[in-house]
Amino acid sequence: ASVDALDTSLPAPHRVQDRSTEVPTPSTGTFTNTPDTDPSIEANRAWARLALSRSAYTQVGAETVRTGAVPGPASLETIIHDTRDAAALWQARGSEVRAWILHQAASAIGARRGDLVSVMAAEAGKTVAESDVEVSEAVDFANYYAEAARRLDAVDGAEFVPDRLTVVTPPWNFPVAIPAGSVLAALAVGSGVIIKAAPQTRRCAAVMVEALWQAGVPRDVLRYVTIDEGGLSQTLVSHPSVDRVILTGGWETARLFRSWRPDLPLLAETSGKNAIVITPSADLDLAVADLVKSAFGHAGQKCSAASLAIVVGSVAESERFRRQLVDAVSSLTVGHPADPEVSMGPVIEPPRGKLLQGLTELDEGETWLLEPRRIGSDDRVWTPGIRAGVRPGNTFHTTEYFGPVLGVMHAADLDEAIAWQNATDYGLTAGIHSLDADEVAAWIDAVEAGNLYVNRGITGAIVQRQPFGGWKRSSVGTTAKAGGPSYLTHLGTWKPRPLRA
Ligand code: ALA
Repeated sequence: ASVDALDTSLPAPHRVQDRSTEVPTPSTGTFTNTPDTDPSIEANRAWARLALSRSAYTQVGAETVRTGAVPGPASLETIIHDTRDAAALWQARGSEVRAWILHQAASAIGARRGDLVSVMAAEAGKTVAESDVEVSEAVDFANYYAEAARRLDAVDGAEFVPDRLTVVTPPWNFPVAIPAGSVLAALAVGSGVIIKAAPQTRRCAAVMVEALWQAGVPRDVLRYVTIDEGGLSQTLVSHPSVDRVILTGGWETARLFRSWRPDLPLLAETSGKNAIVITPSADLDLAVADLVKSAFGHAGQKCSAASLAIVVGSVAESERFRRQLVDAVSSLTVGHPADPEVSMGPVIEPPRGKLLQGLTELDEGETWLLEPRRIGSDDRVWTPGIRAGVRPGNTFHTTEYFGPVLGVMHAADLDEAIAWQNATDYGLTAGIHSLDADEVAAWIDAVEAGNLYVNRGITGAIVQRQPFGGWKRSSVGTTAKAGGPSYLTHLGTWKPRPLRA
């Protein structure tokens, strides 16, 4: 396995689906992960209740959304050229100044934690537990990339030439952390940025962008746009003045972007169909808790979510496993996150197509351990579902659903479990619960995914500790890992320069 860490002395290699296990760098001395809000403290719970009570009517970010709307191709053209022009000065300010501003941005994002939690509940249906960690991740990206940009200057033998103009097209499922990470990385290297907000979560992105402006990122270097018309998205993404597009979204969207502009420099983190393997040696209590969190956090709408549990050997027959899993999942409180008691919110829009099938239709051999139900008057609120007896080759085995439904597969042994885990087009996250070191070693060697987790949930990658990015159809055009030591090296090109004496 080759390691893509610390190695900023060379241009980032363009490897094809290499096992890109980036090893976290030793801390630079200035980066530490920011803590989440501790819910065991009553004052924090009061703060969360206040943030949620405002979520129903919060208008934060509304002004930015209004002014960011792009009415037509002519104004989009102007935005593209103006941002490119402004980026020249931003780059000339140097990495020290930019790093300083990025650290200010980290503080500004942290200072708006309450607004961000409110707006994530309102627009994305996120619970505080889910949105609070997302704010921390955004803060971490700012501090981490600030330091990483300084290191780019120190590379011998090659000069890094950053992209001049980056377009960021983020998803709605992490409506703060993912746009923040992409924007901050591009800003750190000295690029101008146009962020096209995800239509479902425009105010979330707007509040994040406002925080960056307040911190000193020039408004003409970071432009926020909302686009309703598909044709304008194509104009933006395929514009020859755009040096790179950072997309987080579906694999089909990456393909669409490529069809618009075949030579598009694209850095795309795309779909996943992720499984956790549970072997007979596992600590079952821990395995069930991690599985439930990974499968049903944010109602299963994470690219990293566990969609399958592949249980090995005697676990398949274990009444204890079955009962614990069903008990844990049926005790989730489903509803709108404005109610602090709710532990699982709605899906982003009323399920249709593939997701509706995943929530309502069984394939051969499958039965419901828990059948999902739509509850209340909102078509988006569904109780979580568990289907047992998913067989290799069934639709559920390989399809990404992005919703609150988990499938259970029964494998005879670890080899079979790994084969089933790998038998998808995607390779984003993968997990194993096992207390047997040989099993774990064999699994690590054979499993095809970008982020591997042992005896831990498979969502919630932490900046620097778990650089995030996939294999196979889970990434397109890149081996970059967000929150990892070489991410920034993917946002430009390298020119040789003489070695220093
Ligand atoms: N970075 C996100 C996670 O790890 C997608 O869950």
